[in-house]
Amino acid sequence: MRLPFIHKINPISACSCRRRDLSGQTPRGPLLQKGGARGRFWMRCRTRPTIYRRFTVKSLRVKNGHSGKLTKALQGIRKDKGSLVQNMKVWLPVLAVVLLPVCSALVSHYHRWLIHFYRHRFLSWLRTCLTGISGEERAFRYVLMNSTHGKPESVLSTLDEWCCKYECVTDTGPEKGQILDSVVRRVVPVSVLQLGMGCGYSAIRIARLLTPRAKLYTLEQDPRIAEVAEEMMLVAGLKHTQFQVIAGPPTETIPRFKPSLGVERFDFVFLSQGQGENHLRDLCLLEKEGLLSEGSVILANSVTHAGAAGFLSSVRRDPRYHTSFHPCSAPYGKDITDGMEELVFQKEGGGGN
Ligand SMILES: C[S@@+](CC[C@H](N)C(=O)[O-])C[C@H]1O[C@@H](n2cnc3c(N)ncnc32)[C@H](O)[C@@H]1O
Repeated sequence: MRLPFIHKINPISACSCRRRDLSGQTPRGPLLQKGGARGRFWMRCRTRPTIYRRFTVKSLRVKNGHSGKLTKALQGIRKDKGSLVQNMKVWLPVLAVVLLPVCSALVSHYHRWLIHFYRHRFLSWLRTCLTGISGEERAFRYVLMNSTHGKPESVLSTLDEWCCKYECVTDTGPEKGQILDSVVRRVVPVSVLQLGMGCGYSAIRIARLLTPRAKLYTLEQDPRIAEVAEEMMLVAGLKHTQFQVIAGPPTETIPRFKPSLGVERFDFVFLSQGQGENHLRDLCLLEKEGLLSEGSVILANSVTHAGAAGFLSSVRRDPRYHTSFHPCSAPYGKDITDGMEELVFQKEGGGGN
């Protein structure tokens, strides 16, 4: 039912306002509390007693319980509501006309990415929230049940199957894995560092290609994930003489390599700690600790993500690095482009590309 505007039922005096509390009772005492009023108001016009309306006021400050001010305040509320509804009526169709094509263009351009995000990130996050079991643990259970233990290739293909069918727990996958394999085969490193172990997929890929005297040090900032990934590597048949898992933030673990682990330099570094936000910071840390020297090769994963933009522009301008880009697709998402950047450390102050 349409309510009349308050100015039509003027004049209102204090005695025509009755406050009712939420149970519908009319409380005794003054009609309006000094300093403010709350609740339902029944308003009646003295001159036209038939107009009798109810208003719900959540918070209304009325000085000294003055009825004139109450009338004014309620008028304001009614008018505000009216103008808001009027404005919405005009603006909603305009907004719809403008936003609909923009939204549909965005969805059609990014639909593959959206589906990928929904399948591999959102559902994974939801499962973790509901079960308290991480994606890495779920993948490990699947590998434990379905792979041939002691065979790295079998563990890798079982992980591929899991990531393809259920949820993606690696940022590498088969296509980027081929690039990683080819760089490891070319460099033949003795000391290798991986940043961001995750489920252990790329750690297994690297470790299975190392020569007997080589060793992979793999850093994972989350100790729970590091534990699962270490188990995964053992299931793949890799030995602790071939790899060492180090849990903790790189700001604490990287400075320990020289004094505690006796590592002088890394021949090959794989930066795979997420979407590239920490690539530059961790690379600077390695430089600062003197763990890179002439000929050290760094392969940075997922560099087409926005988080890696600063890293890319910095290393491509840095004369100490010779850089090359490996285009590829996102893991298990053939239609989504991704890329890896390979850097070769030149002499300090040496010529770049
Ligand atoms: C996408 S996963 C890596 C997956 C791994 N490359 C693989 O192929 O299985 C990223 C991992 O990096 C870890 N991480 C993120 N930032 C890190 C950092 N600065 N140092 C070490 N680990 C990091 C995260 O906890 C996460 O487990």
